[in-house]
Amino acid sequence: MIYTASYYFKNLLAVKIMNILEMKNISKSFPGVKALNDMSLTVKKGEVHGLLGANGAGKSTLMKVLSGVISPDAGDIIFKGESVQFTSPLDAQEKGIVIIHQELSLVPSLSVAENILLGRLPGKPHNINWKKAYNDAAVYLEKVGTYIKPSTKVRDLSVAQKQLVEIAKALSYDADLIIMDEPSAVLSGSELNQLFNTINSLAEKGVTVIYISHRLEEIFQICNRITIMRDGQVIETREVAETNREQIIRGIVGRELSEEYPPSETYNFGDVILSVKNLSLKGKLDNINLDLKKGEILGLAGLVGSGRTEIARSIFGADVYDKGEIFYKGKKTVIKSPKQAIELGIALVPEDRKEQGLITSFSLKENFTMAALKKINNKGFMKFKKEIDESKSLVNQLKIKTPSVGQIALNLSGGNQQKVVVGKYLFSDADILILDEPTRGVDVGAKREIYLVIRELIKQDKAVLLISSDWEELIALCDRLLVVHEGKIKGEMNGQDASPEKILDLALT
Ligand SMILES: Nc1ncnc2c1ncn2[C@@H]1O[C@H](COP(=O)(O)OP(=O)(O)OP(=O)(O)O)[C@@H](O)[C@H]1O
Ligand SMILES: [Mg+2]
Repeated sequence: MIYTASYYFKNLLAVKIMNILEMKNISKSFPGVKALNDMSLTVKKGEVHGLLGANGAGKSTLMKVLSGVISPDAGDIIFKGESVQFTSPLDAQEKGIVIIHQELSLVPSLSVAENILLGRLPGKPHNINWKKAYNDAAVYLEKVGTYIKPSTKVRDLSVAQKQLVEIAKALSYDADLIIMDEPSAVLSGSELNQLFNTINSLAEKGVTVIYISHRLEEIFQICNRITIMRDGQVIETREVAETNREQIIRGIVGRELSEEYPPSETYNFGDVILSVKNLSLKGKLDNINLDLKKGEILGLAGLVGSGRTEIARSIFGADVYDKGEIFYKGKKTVIKSPKQAIELGIALVPEDRKEQGLITSFSLKENFTMAALKKINNKGFMKFKKEIDESKSLVNQLKIKTPSVGQIALNLSGGNQQKVVVGKYLFSDADILILDEPTRGVDVGAKREIYLVIRELIKQDKAVLLISSDWEELIALCDRLLVVHEGKIKGEMNGQDASPEKILDLALT
């Protein structure tokens, strides 16, 4: 065969069209942290490309560079065959790149429709065509399989619903490349399937998706290729069909991980520490009954909006229930506020880390100790050394990636922020820990550390109420599972007998 100039030219063009994106030798440093270190990434047109790596590996930073949120210290970006330098997210958007951020960025005081169509509401600024706005928004909401009313205020939505709105908003831009930074962290069952359907139909239309997730089973369901990052560098890019779970985990954590879930040890439960009787909350909870024993991990499974979080918040005194009783340590107790709950020895790791769990402008050590100031306070004098020592030990125990315990929480990666929230409540020495999505956005290696801590608490006779949208996690950790649907408990099963199919069956009917 004779290779002509035109043959080469055609091939060159094909390569250009095949690769919608090339990021070459990107570096980015923050004070004390080299977040990206000569990182390169190539993405083909129309593929779903998984971006994997441990907490703090640099995934979000790389995607912020790509979407014009931050500018790199060095490196080149070639998008649709052209060298580009984005000066702002709007600039990237106009060229066809949209990002769904890991930390949700909707405006809580505005409606769902206003958020989706922000800056693009139909009609004139003083005469908005609301009918059209709501209709348009509804079309995008339907694409992600949710029927939230477009006029609902975003602040009234659950974390998972907010996530769905973010996705709907991204779809509305008609982008060539959509970056999804952990869109599935709070979704399960049918919502997750709907997200995958949406991604598949985008890919069919030739839209490229970069997909970040710590849930590895998803990678095999929807990604064509993956790139694994570690410490701001690329470890490898592979076809998903040519890899397996063990190999991916090795790439992410840099070593073998003997088992993802530490095996449970036989343990005799103690007395019932918490008993909830006939608890009802108008429109949200209907006659909830549950018992939690010392040394027990009780799971709450269900879909978005099923009432799991409301059960947790009612016990914690954050929601005021209309009917029912709570018995704590054998005594009828009315818990009026979270402050009172903490004093009684009940702690809640909330699902919304940014709004309720973490003060992002505070340092790590301040965040750790603020729920248990008594422990570091001696007659009005702060025990600063103790604060630092205890904080350092939590950083080690949970393997939090930070230059120091004085770093402000905002500067940590998403998964590391989550570990700080978990650490804060571990420090509080509570008897009951209510964990609402404790491993949201946490990498496989660090998840195991959190599981080990939970098991350690159980050995100290504490009790755990665990809510998670990761059903594998619930099944592996819980002694008993309650399935919640439409504010009611639909069934109970032992951890050993549970399966995702059984949960789904109860969660839907
Ligand atoms: N604005 C900032 N100031 C200081 N350090 C930062 C800032 N943004 C990110 N970092 C640091 O850069 C590193 C990479 O963070 P990045 O958010 O990209 O990680 P990630 O891979 O997305 O992790 P995760 O899985 O936890 O979301 C981390 O060590 C993080 O603490
Ligand atoms: Mg991230």
